[in-house]
Amino acid sequence: MTRRVLITAGASGIGVAMAKAFVETGAEVWVTDIDAQRLTELPTGVRGSVADTSDEAAMADMFNRIKAQWGGLDVLCANAGIKGPTAALEEMPLEGWRECLAVNLDGAFLAAKHAAPIMKAQRSGVMLFTSSTAGLYGFPYRAPYAAAKWAVIGLMKTVAMELGPHGIRANAIAPGSVNGPRIDRVFEAEAAAKGMTYEAVRDGYAAGTALGRLSDPEDIASMAVFLASDAARMVSGQVITVDGFTINPDPKV
Ligand SMILES: NC(=O)c1ccc[n+]([C@@H]2O[C@H](COP(=O)([O-])OP(=O)(O)OC[C@H]3O[C@@H](n4cnc5c(N)ncnc54)[C@H](O)[C@@H]3O)[C@@H](O)[C@H]2O)c1
Repeated sequence: MTRRVLITAGASGIGVAMAKAFVETGAEVWVTDIDAQRLTELPTGVRGSVADTSDEAAMADMFNRIKAQWGGLDVLCANAGIKGPTAALEEMPLEGWRECLAVNLDGAFLAAKHAAPIMKAQRSGVMLFTSSTAGLYGFPYRAPYAAAKWAVIGLMKTVAMELGPHGIRANAIAPGSVNGPRIDRVFEAEAAAKGMTYEAVRDGYAAGTALGRLSDPEDIASMAVFLASDAARMVSGQVITVDGFTINPDPKV
């Protein structure tokens, strides 16, 4: 049977790479995003709809549409995330903290909450959460992001325990720094906060991995395809890091 895959924040970056990778496996793919323009530029075979992942009414409406059009859902990729503010702790704005948690954590929770009854009814399904290596280490100047990505792992482990008896698996992927426009913005903000150059921050992160380089979105997407597949049928409750092995999570030079 053709697998039905939903990816939140799937209009760019890692999400769109996941969408392409799942289409290549023959799956039907639906992505959501807040960027209506980018949703008009999706790869062939991918359908899209606007939904803010932190808005429960919008998410409920979108899952109702999925139920009506697909009758079920095999794979959820709760992928939405924003970088949040980059600032010293004492300068960290509460509003930016809340916004970061709303998209990264509330968004993952709402996706899982509304996918759960669909998957429970069919007694099968896979939920994949995009965390980050920030969810495994601390992240100086990025307190809200690190806190949100740790929390996503707690959510994932709970989902895996609660829904395992219903035939549903849950795992998290923890990417390191992934090449693309988003990570350039992250490096620029971090360079400003730390008084470093963009190049020093970027090269520091690359040198801080055992493989000495940053990942590409396709590296994350291929792990998502594997974790969603029957080849991973006994893998649940795990955080799988795709980062070239971070050996220094906080480059200072
Ligand atoms: N890029 C990296 O280096 C990196 C590293 C680790 C983890 N991650 C995580 O991977 C995920 C994807 O990141 P990316 O690098 O592809 O980002 P990106 O900035 O390239 O794309 C993010 C997408 O999310 C959408 N979006 C933003 N807010 C949204 C909301 N409220 N509801 C729905 N969609 C929304 C944007 O419109 C955009 O299309 C995020 O959870 C991010 O935290 C990224």
